[in-house]
Amino acid sequence: MPLLRVVDRDGVEHEVEARAGLKVMETLRELDYGVAAICGGMCSCATCHVYVDRSWLERLAAPMSDERELLAELAHRESNSRLSCQIEFTEGLAGLKVTIAPDE
Ligand code: FES
Repeated sequence: MPLLRVVDRDGVEHEVEARAGLKVMETLRELDYGVAAICGGMCSCATCHVYVDRSWLERLAAPMSDERELLAELAHRESNSRLSCQIEFTEGLAGLKVTIAPDE
């Protein structure tokens, strides 16, 4: 399985297997150091907030308006912020690096 690189809130990087076709959030919520994903991927809670490594940003599909609107409300928003429930993991994204954002 392709690997996802995940930096936890303590700054520790982990490599985890991620299934293509699933949202990145679905992998992250299984991890002890992952995301809460309270809304289950409905793009309404922002508890799946991550920072995407800038070298990967352009390889992702651009965020839709509902994701952009939710991100705009976050105190810890950065220019590389994304909601991981809106990122579909693919074989082409093997090695994607994301950092779990702080709790709001
Ligand atoms: S899981 Fe709620 S916005 Fe992503």
